[in-house]
Amino acid sequence: MNASVTEPLVEASGLGVRYGSTEILHGVDLTVGRGAHLAVMGRSGSGKSTLLLVLAGLLTPSSGRVSWPGLSSDVRVRRGEIGMVFQAPSLMPELTALQNTTLPLRLRGLGVEESRAASLQALEAIGAADFAAALPAQLSGGQQQRVAIARALAGGHRLVLADEPTGALDRARAHQVAVALRDGVTAMGGGLVLATHDPALAEMFDERLTVLDGDLTPGLSA
Ligand SMILES: Nc1ncnc2c1ncn2[C@@H]1O[C@H](COP(=O)(O)OP(=O)(O)OP(=O)(O)O)[C@@H](O)[C@H]1O
Ligand SMILES: [Mg+2]
Repeated sequence: MNASVTEPLVEASGLGVRYGSTEILHGVDLTVGRGAHLAVMGRSGSGKSTLLLVLAGLLTPSSGRVSWPGLSSDVRVRRGEIGMVFQAPSLMPELTALQNTTLPLRLRGLGVEESRAASLQALEAIGAADFAAALPAQLSGGQQQRVAIARALAGGHRLVLADEPTGALDRARAHQVAVALRDGVTAMGGGLVLATHDPALAEMFDERLTVLDGDLTPGLSA
């Protein structure tokens, strides 16, 4: 499965993941290139989050290999080049929405004003600027989700892996947020992989794949 054969950012071949004796993924081949956006579907428990974690380098596969030819060979630099929107809430509870969005940029050495401007722009694009000053506990689940997406968008990552990032949003908002994420990442020449249960959302992506029986199949067959 090749989202783009030119300038690959991440390449997986013959990928397999086991948890104990249970095989979750096997023989998965996937290439995500610069400017590519693809949606991954599949029933609950099929292995979407597992796949994204492997592509992010956060989970070591049991077999096969994953490489990042378009990213830095220095793992510490590469971590900053990869943006992950986790399925579970992942905001820092003691920081405001704006501070949460700004934090990765500051950690990467960007100045205060530059980080703030990029963060506000991303919050605006995601429709979350109104609650920039709020703490996560003061926000709904969907609002928190939007802040986490803005954080990934602001980061200028070359590869963004978004795990059901709009699961808590109503359909209109999910559409708006997914478009902002897709267009924001690809405008910078980045690649985006988004896991979703929503076929209407998946339709907006260049390529659509489904995790079925541990492997990726083209289309929305599950
Ligand atoms: N750390 C773990 N240890 C053992 N089993 C795990 C672990 N993480 C996931 N699994 C199992 O692996 C399978 C795939 O999980 P995964 O989270 O990738 O599914 P998913 O497609 O993302 O599901 P959902 O749509 O519900 O988010 C599930 O059966 C799950 O129970
Ligand atoms: Mg999942």
